[in-house]
Amino acid sequence: MGKGSGYGKVILFGEHFVVHGVPGVVSATDAKTDAEVKKTVQGITINDERKGSKGYAEEKRLQQIESIQRMLKAMDMPADTAMSIWIGGNLPGFSGLGASAASSVAIARAITEEFSLDLPDEKINAVAYEAEKAYAGNPSGIDNTAATYGGLMWFRKNLQGGPDFVERLGIIEPVEIVIGSTGKVANTKAMVEGVAERKKQNPQKYNPLFERVGEIAVEGRKALEAGDLKKVGELMNENHTILQGIEVSSKELDLLVDIARKEGALGAKLTGGGGGGCMVALTPGVELQEKVASAMEKEGFQVLRTKVGVQKQ
Ligand code: PMV
Repeated sequence: MGKGSGYGKVILFGEHFVVHGVPGVVSATDAKTDAEVKKTVQGITINDERKGSKGYAEEKRLQQIESIQRMLKAMDMPADTAMSIWIGGNLPGFSGLGASAASSVAIARAITEEFSLDLPDEKINAVAYEAEKAYAGNPSGIDNTAATYGGLMWFRKNLQGGPDFVERLGIIEPVEIVIGSTGKVANTKAMVEGVAERKKQNPQKYNPLFERVGEIAVEGRKALEAGDLKKVGELMNENHTILQGIEVSSKELDLLVDIARKEGALGAKLTGGGGGGCMVALTPGVELQEKVASAMEKEGFQVLRTKVGVQKQ
């Protein structure tokens, strides 16, 4: 049997904008998706035991099948490769946490082991990028990069098609965050297409927002590296306002962001594709983290208490 894992991720700055070449800052979560793959005699069976949003696995099933076909092709394996796949781990199947990329990396690694392919991380990342196209249409590559390598990263898509610009970032100390889930499964592909379409229709409104988010990513990176969490929080808040401006937030995301700020979070924004999915609140210290998390839970939302900036084990 082959085994593999992939990290979940939280985008701190720049989701959606990264698709168009604006830089972003992403942190892997310490929660992971695990996969096991076993050769069989016929067909592909998938046993998805990830916990989280009700219906996440069902809603993504067709995209998941397409993603596995894409992976096999990228690994030069026959489309009719027979295997059973198990998916689990402690990363909840909330939309917005890079669950699809984490599972693609985990499955690619498990296939590599079971079929003795000996693929380096660089190739696993490229295979997972191909798989991400099934879920996101035109993905930036930020999710699969975080899922493959872990840690805190600066990411800029290479629009010319060469390798993306990725830098590992140092942070003085890992910081507690709360991820709040709306419980709604989001369609990342539709969200990404919607932004591209509105940008094309309304460049006067969209271009300055794209420019500002690029600056926010630069300022956010500096603040993270300097340990200036107050500044990080302010920039997260500003990033959220811009995400509202490009119409990717939702009533539930805005409510979760409001709860987090009222309870004392230094900043809060949606994370990932939006339109449902998740938000992230910056809550240094377990006490503040607990206060924010339990306030969200009291309103009936599911949360994940985790940290950003944890170095890859
Ligand atoms: O919602 P998620 O976890 O699939 O994250 C999507 C992030 C986007 O920036 C919206 C798309 C991308 O490919 O970067």
